[in-house]
This record gives sequence, structure tokens and C-alpha cells, in this order.
Amino acid sequence: MTTAAIHEGSMPVTITVNGRTEKAEVPGLTPLGDFLREKLGLTGTKLGCRAGDCGSCTVLVDSVPVASCLMPVAQVGERAVATVEGLGGEGDLHPLQEAFRNNNASQCGFCIPGILMAATAFLDRAEPPSRAEVVDGLSGNLCRCTGYESIVSAIVEAHTLNREA
Ligand code: FES
Ligand code: FES
Repeated sequence: MTTAAIHEGSMPVTITVNGRTEKAEVPGLTPLGDFLREKLGLTGTKLGCRAGDCGSCTVLVDSVPVASCLMPVAQVGERAVATVEGLGGEGDLHPLQEAFRNNNASQCGFCIPGILMAATAFLDRAEPPSRAEVVDGLSGNLCRCTGYESIVSAIVEAHTLNREA
């Protein structure tokens, strides 16, 4: 898709989100986060700063964490998008969700979807992450409730749960 096309009015967009193909007509510069929330009703993704600073809008694009407030939906192309809704749900919790529940790591919850998606990167590692590595890896995700200790504990535990699953 050309830059000129992206700047021209509404355009058809087709993307794959959580394994489903989704289509809509939107201005090409519509941020992916707005597209997910307003066109697809996937409101798990939260928009905070809208400037790439807080990490609350983090989703995975081809397994890479990205700030969905900054990426125009028209630039996603054929890459696979994963949101927090695709992780798991009641009765079928993802190891990260289970560990966050076990550690009471969700406070107001606003930052948690972005942190969960960013934290998926730790689960593929052979060795469990140290607390310092988790803190470093989440440096782009801000929690206004500031309870980082339980969040870090949950991510370390999730690595173990994931290995046992
Ligand atoms: S809303 Fe995207 S980084 Fe803050
Ligand atoms: S749990 Fe409230 S902002 Fe993080």
C-alpha cells in the first residue's frame, strides 16, 4: 500500500486478529488500537497516552509487541495481530492470566492487557526470567497503580506455569 493511498479518505482494510480475518472501511491513518476497539469491539486493548509512552495499548504483530496507538491499521498488512482477548478466557486461562490472578497482580487493571501482551515474550525462553530482567523488559509499560512487585512475581510464575502446561 502506498503512502498516498493511506492518506486518501476511507479505504478497505483487511487484517487478521486473533486468528480471524476482519474487514472494515476506515481512514488509512486510523491507529490500530482505535480500529480494534471501535471497529472490532475488542476493548481489552487500552489507549492511554496515545503517544507511545505508556504501553497500555500493546498488542502483538507477528509476535512482536507494538504500540497500537502509533501503528496505522493500513500498515499491518498480512501480519497477524494478537490482542488480550486472544490469550484465554474464563475456564481456559492463559498461564499469564492464571499467574496474575494467583498474585493479585491486577489493581485497577488499565495497564494489565498491555503488560500481558508484552510479557508473552518471556514465556518462550528456556530459563525463567530473573526479576531484574522482567523489570527491564517491562520498562515501556507504565502502571499508574504502581504495584510492580506483584506484576513481576506473576510474570516469573507464569514462566513456570507455561512450562508445566
Ligand atoms: S496508548 Fe499507546 S503507548 Fe500509551
Ligand atoms: S493496575 Fe492500574 S494502572 Fe496498572
